[in-house]
Amino acid sequence: MRLPVCFRPVARMYQSPKQTAEAAPYRVHDRSQPTDTLVEDVRAGLGTSPKRLPAKYFYDETGSRLFEAICATPEYYPTRTEDALLRMHAAEIMDLAGPAILVEFGSGSAEKSEHLLAAQDGELVYVPVDVCEPVIEIAAHRLLGRFPALRVEAIVGEYERPGDLPLPDSGARLFALIGSTIGNLAEAEAVDFLVSLRRRMGPADRFLLGVDRVKPTAVLNAAYNDAAGLTAAFNLNVLDVLNRELAGDFRKQEFEHLAFFDEHKEQVEMHLRALRKHRVHLPGAELVVDFDAGETLRTEISRKFTRASLTRLLAAAGMRALRHFTPENEYFSLVLAAAESGHNG
Ligand SMILES: C[S@@+](CC[C@H](N)C(=O)[O-])C[C@H]1O[C@@H](n2cnc3c(N)ncnc32)[C@H](O)[C@@H]1O
Repeated sequence: MRLPVCFRPVARMYQSPKQTAEAAPYRVHDRSQPTDTLVEDVRAGLGTSPKRLPAKYFYDETGSRLFEAICATPEYYPTRTEDALLRMHAAEIMDLAGPAILVEFGSGSAEKSEHLLAAQDGELVYVPVDVCEPVIEIAAHRLLGRFPALRVEAIVGEYERPGDLPLPDSGARLFALIGSTIGNLAEAEAVDFLVSLRRRMGPADRFLLGVDRVKPTAVLNAAYNDAAGLTAAFNLNVLDVLNRELAGDFRKQEFEHLAFFDEHKEQVEMHLRALRKHRVHLPGAELVVDFDAGETLRTEISRKFTRASLTRLLAAAGMRALRHFTPENEYFSLVLAAAESGHNG
């Protein structure tokens, strides 16, 4: 058994039926995790107090669609801001990085990375890495339709340990983690990811990181509490994922969406707050979970960075910023980085 819709099994090496094996412009490597990982995460996260879950479980097919809809809300400035930055600087980034291969971690719909592909002259191999296979597949076919010289070598699986992924190495690579996705990792997890990536990087490889910045609390709180209720639906959807995968009996009406910026921790936290005391059964994880009235389950952190904390994060992993792109209001940062030469860690 494997993980939810987005973690669903695919043929080991899938080739689009429209393509011959020789041309194979679209292939998928299945590195999705067995359900055991979900069971372990749920036992560790719900079997203790305070309760928490890793953000990756949001992204079944419904969650991915809701995320895309959130990106289009007036309150959710990060997507628009990063999109404008990429549109403006894609040519310079591709010029500086000169990649033969673009590896994108947590690629999702790949709408923003499309600016990078459009700025590339000639052939390129695009390697989207995401837990959500249907979303990768839709994006891959859209991109192949637009860029005839593109090849897509998708990896369905988790990006946290790039060192363990079957990444091509037949030319200079641009690794990208945009969309503020690194903010979903705690500091130690983010450093582990970056160190694993840096160890994989050669002198010609580059890394493009997109991070959200610390800004007025009201702007951040609005971004995670959109008036249309899409973020609330996205948050609550994780209970459907757990019910489906673990035969659970979570009832969404027993919870409310809660999201706020913690100025001290410099992170937005998203929680599900129990409206009353109740009990939930998750037979698939052999777990019974009691919620007190008002108790919360933390479902996501989204860390926000200052220029200083961003530089510190890269340095802790043995990386160095080469170029920093930010809009006038400094709401978002795109950083092009390289591995420090001579770093042994
Ligand atoms: C915040 S969204 C960003 C999507 C896209 N890069 C963008 O900028 O709009 C995070 C993406 O990472 C994927 N994701 C989340 N956790 C992941 C993990 N541990 N491994 C691989 N992909 C993951 C989700 O499916 C989703 O597509």
